[in-house]
Amino acid sequence: MKRLNSQMQQDGAPLELILLIRTLLAGCKEISFRVSQGALAGVLGSTLSENVQGETQKKLDVISNQILKDILKESGYVKAISSEEEDDVVPCDPEGKYLVSFDPLDGSSNTEINSLIGTIFSIAHAPQWMEPNDPAAFLQPGSQMVAAGYVLYGPSTMLAMTTGKGTHIYTLDKTHGGFLLTHPNVQVPELTAEFSINASNQRHWEPPVKQYISDLLAGEEGPRGKNYNMRWVAAMVGDVHRLLCRGGIFMYPYDKREPDKPGKLRLLYEANPMAFLIEQAGGLASTGAGRIMEVMPEEIHQRVPVILGSKDEVEACLSYYD
Ligand code: AHG
Ligand code: MN
Ligand code: MN
Repeated sequence: MKRLNSQMQQDGAPLELILLIRTLLAGCKEISFRVSQGALAGVLGSTLSENVQGETQKKLDVISNQILKDILKESGYVKAISSEEEDDVVPCDPEGKYLVSFDPLDGSSNTEINSLIGTIFSIAHAPQWMEPNDPAAFLQPGSQMVAAGYVLYGPSTMLAMTTGKGTHIYTLDKTHGGFLLTHPNVQVPELTAEFSINASNQRHWEPPVKQYISDLLAGEEGPRGKNYNMRWVAAMVGDVHRLLCRGGIFMYPYDKREPDKPGKLRLLYEANPMAFLIEQAGGLASTGAGRIMEVMPEEIHQRVPVILGSKDEVEACLSYYD
């Protein structure tokens, strides 16, 4: 089976990017090990601290963030990091060529129930002019990413990644520690009848989302003329992984709970990397008003509404916004 390295080379990724990705993944392998130890390693449960988003940090949020930060800071490839668990940009090597943004542990509420969690990351070029502690360099649209992916810590540890030449899925072979290409060039299946949304927020949604979901729920008798199934993992990595394997639509739309927040999911380290993976697999990723990857970020922890998945289903959903 093909190894990650040769696939990245075949896709024309520059050597330094390949080395950076391998470094990042070495950190993810360590997270994977800690996660699998669970209560035995005392890594479950919450800390007493909150992150910049006002969320109580789980021990694994803090541990995963520290592992990735340490390994990337030492690598020499990275000029600065932005992370869900860091208030500000983390300056690294002034000579580093890349910027890395990550959600060190996505779906951290699932640590309580031994369910799916993951790490999401995106990589962009660091402009020459930037100082390593300058957040301005991170404020570029997702279309500038050179690589993005996630590592899913599930029954097996899997990596979905793109360097802009298709989306490939690899499985971690824990016997020798390498990621092997198990699903080359994945395409989001087009024929789908599955949707993914936290329906408990229904009363807060805007009219187009209410109407769209109500039409899906109407099934065969409704305007869509078919029955749909619903799934919600409460970890975007798990939901997006299902989309890549089985198709469907995932939504975390704007809602009126906190009217000032444009959505729940964060642009730099959740929405953008997933949008890149989905688009490279033939799907669509939108905010409802336009392509996620064209949103110009105003700050590093910016949130956006997210609608992504199989092309036809996302288009059907977007038609409700017109
Ligand atoms: P995180 O654990 O990094 O804060 O992200 C959780 C996100 C996302 O992964 C998931 O889709 C969503 O929040 C779950 O939201 P609900 O709490 O509404 O289920
Ligand atoms: Mn997350
Ligand atoms: Mn997280």
